[in-house]
Amino acid sequence: MASNYKYVILGGGNASGYAAAEFVKRGGGKGELAIITREPHVAYERPTLSKAYLFPEGAPRLPGFHTCVGGGGSKQEPEWYKEHGIDYKLKTEIKSADVSKKTLTSTSGETFSYEKLIIATGARAVDLATDFKTPGADLKGIYSFRDVEDADSILAAISDVKSRGGKVVVVGGGYIGMEVGSNLSKHGLDVTLVWPEKHLMERLFTPEVATFYEEYYKNKGIKLHPEALATSFEGKDGKVTHAVLKDGTKIEAQMVISGAGARPNVELFEGQIDLLKDKPGGVKVDGKMQTSNPDVYAIGDIAAYPLKRYGITTRQEHVANARQTGALAISAILAPGETQDFDYLPFFYSRVFDLGWQLYGSNAPDDETVFFGSKADKKFGTFYVRDGKVVGAFMEGGDNDENAALSKIAKAQPKAPSDLASLGVGLASKL
Ligand code: FDA
Ligand code: NAD
Repeated sequence: MASNYKYVILGGGNASGYAAAEFVKRGGGKGELAIITREPHVAYERPTLSKAYLFPEGAPRLPGFHTCVGGGGSKQEPEWYKEHGIDYKLKTEIKSADVSKKTLTSTSGETFSYEKLIIATGARAVDLATDFKTPGADLKGIYSFRDVEDADSILAAISDVKSRGGKVVVVGGGYIGMEVGSNLSKHGLDVTLVWPEKHLMERLFTPEVATFYEEYYKNKGIKLHPEALATSFEGKDGKVTHAVLKDGTKIEAQMVISGAGARPNVELFEGQIDLLKDKPGGVKVDGKMQTSNPDVYAIGDIAAYPLKRYGITTRQEHVANARQTGALAISAILAPGETQDFDYLPFFYSRVFDLGWQLYGSNAPDDETVFFGSKADKKFGTFYVRDGKVVGAFMEGGDNDENAALSKIAKAQPKAPSDLASLGVGLASKL
């Protein structure tokens, strides 16, 4: 059976929710748009999952965090899509795409045809068993983390894990490692982080900043194993009992969480549209999110686009990017004359324990870095300086005004003054 739509969004994640909001705002016609997703829920704010969703008390649940609440918009529950004539195909996995015939086919054999397709398939969590072939990674008790069902499985296992020793190993020292690790420790679990780099969040944090968080985690009872790889897992009766590190160290674990990165879901389109084989990977798009096929657009985690202000091609696995690229692609399709090329200011944030940081702009390993503020006051940051200009600004503990100042500085890219360290975010008032 074939269903025909003018527009199809493949993937029902963050980017699609914001694309749907823009579609309605721009007066897209009823019955013209379908969103197809394998998930059983309409689009929700994925960032909630590794944060408040895991809290032992007062945790939000769906429908509380459907898009677009995270971006300050209205909550789009299933009724919202019905009301606006958008067909939402839940629990529908697309197994093949034919861009020349303009069709998508689901695992159950259903075919969808489109005039314009927006690919929003996002990224998937690296799976230690299938992606890294880590021996023992298929034991029970080892979880990856991407969607509501993953979070629910982890939460449901906690009391059993506690009864058998309460020890959790989290693999990865990035976002998932830090956020999920901190929240599981709030459940009274004994958490160990294991990751290959020297410092936590090494891509973004300077060593000076990272050591603040590392000390914080240790004071909260979390054990840290930097520069360590989990090379195998051991188990008993099919359940994980230990993570084994490359140097032979065995760490007891009744639960293992993998936070070892994400991979863009682009395989359906291999050989059909231009994909980037090398970094940053993903689907190559122009400043209007249009792929090498004029009837196919790509948004969110999979879209690799020109980042105008730094003259590079980027792919951002972050929610502000998903929200903005989703809206932009719809605008480019429905109102091409009004749509400018994407001019994104990268934005990253996280919240762990009672801490919270934001980073605007760019940072690279060769940048000069300038520290400001006070670690003792939990209010400090880093400026990233390239060719004498401030290109990125990070701050822990910023309030709304300070975070707005970070954004203003990163956007303006001012020449770095000699008193940058003492000025801190005060630099913004001089711009
Ligand atoms: P997203 O992954 O949201 O959606 C993709 C959708 O496509 C899914 O519904 C998937 O099931 C579906 N799909 C894929 N292939 C399919 C197929 N073949 N058939 C049918 N459906 C298919 N960012 C940030 O800036 N701050 C933060 O705090 C966080 N926190 C955070 C926590 C956690 C736990 C995760 C996993 C991620 C974050 N992120 C984040 C990243 C942010 O959530 C991410 O960038 C956006 O969700 C990307 O939106 P997309 O719509 O591109 O993909
Ligand atoms: P990440 O890239 O932030 O961190 C991956 C970590 O795993 C790194 O420390 C990396 O070195 C490590 N790693 C890689 N290979 C490994 C191996 N073989 N063994 C051990 N460790 C290994 O990715 P993540 O934390 O898994 O997050 C997954 C996705 O979710 C990303 O797209 C991320 O942007 C997104 N996310 C974002 C936020 C946020 O922005 N606050 C929060 C959660 C998740």
